[in-house]
Amino acid sequence: LTDTYTLNNGTTIPIVGFGTWQTPDGQVAYDSVLAALKAGYRHIDTAAAYGNEESVGKAIADSGVAREDLFVTTKLWNADHGYETAKAALDTSLAKLGLDYVDLYLIHWPNPAAMRDNWEQLNADTWRAMEEAYADRKARAIGVSNFRPKHLDALLKTAKVVPAVNQIFLNPSDMEPEVVAYNEAHDILSEAYSPLGTGKIFGIDDLTTMAQKYDKSVAQVVLRWSLQHGFLPLPKSVHADRIAQNTDIFDFELSADDMATIDGLRGVAGLANDPDTVNF
Ligand code: A2P
Repeated sequence: LTDTYTLNNGTTIPIVGFGTWQTPDGQVAYDSVLAALKAGYRHIDTAAAYGNEESVGKAIADSGVAREDLFVTTKLWNADHGYETAKAALDTSLAKLGLDYVDLYLIHWPNPAAMRDNWEQLNADTWRAMEEAYADRKARAIGVSNFRPKHLDALLKTAKVVPAVNQIFLNPSDMEPEVVAYNEAHDILSEAYSPLGTGKIFGIDDLTTMAQKYDKSVAQVVLRWSLQHGFLPLPKSVHADRIAQNTDIFDFELSADDMATIDGLRGVAGLANDPDTVNF
C-alpha cells in the first residue's frame, strides 16, 4: 500500500486509496477510516458532498499517522463552481478536515443540471481558483472527476495546469474505454471509484470461479484487475475485515486470459451508466 504512481506534476500517490462515498458521517466514517489507516492505507478519498469530512479528519488526527505519510483527496461540490466560491469551498473543506492542505482537490462533476447552460465558463473559472490553490500549496495536485473527453477538451482550452487525475466510475461492468484512452493520452491518471461496482459485481459467476482459482476473494480479483490496467482503485467498505482484505492484492497476478475475461464482462452487472442520460 505504500507503492505509488507518479502524477503528471511529479507528486507520488499511493496506488490504492480508501473510498468513503456512501459511508455515513459520524461513528461509521470515523471507525472505518481509522480501521483503514490501521490496515495500512495511506490514501483516503472523500468529498464535500459525502458529508463526512469532519469524521474523516478526526480519524486522521487520531490515527497518529504523520501528515506527510498520508495522501488525502477531497472534491468541490456542484453548488461551489465559480472562482470565488471554489476558493471558499476549499477553505471550508480544509477546516472540516482539520488540515492545512489536501494532496488532491478535484472538481466533482463537470456539468450538473444547474449549470447546463454555462458549464464551460464555470469550469474554467473554478479551475483558475484551483490553479491558485495549487500554486499556494493548499492543494498539492488538482484534478477532475466524472469528466468525459468533451469536458476535458473544454477545460484544456484555458487551463495552465493539466489535471493530474480524472476520477471516474470504473469497474468491470463499466469500463469507460473512451475516457480511459483520453486520460492516458494526456498523462492524466484514471482513478476508479466504485471499483467493486458498488458491490454489484459479487453475483457474477465467472468472477466467483476465477477467485477460487487464485484462492482470493472476488473483491481481491477485481481490485487486482483494476491495478493491472494501471487504474487507481478506491474500494469502500465499513467492515474492518473487508477493509483489510481489500489491501491483500499484491501477492498474485491475473493472467492475460483472465484479464480479457473480466474485460468482457462489460455491462454484466447492469451498472453501465449511460452518461448522456444519467449524469450529463
Ligand atoms: P460494506 O461497506 O458493507 O463492507 P465500491 O467500492 O465499488 O463502491 O463497493 C463498495 C461495496 O462493496 C459496499 O457495499 C461494501 O460493503 C462492499 N464491499 C467492499 N469490500 C468488500 C469485500 N471485500 N467483500 C464483500 N463486499 C465488499
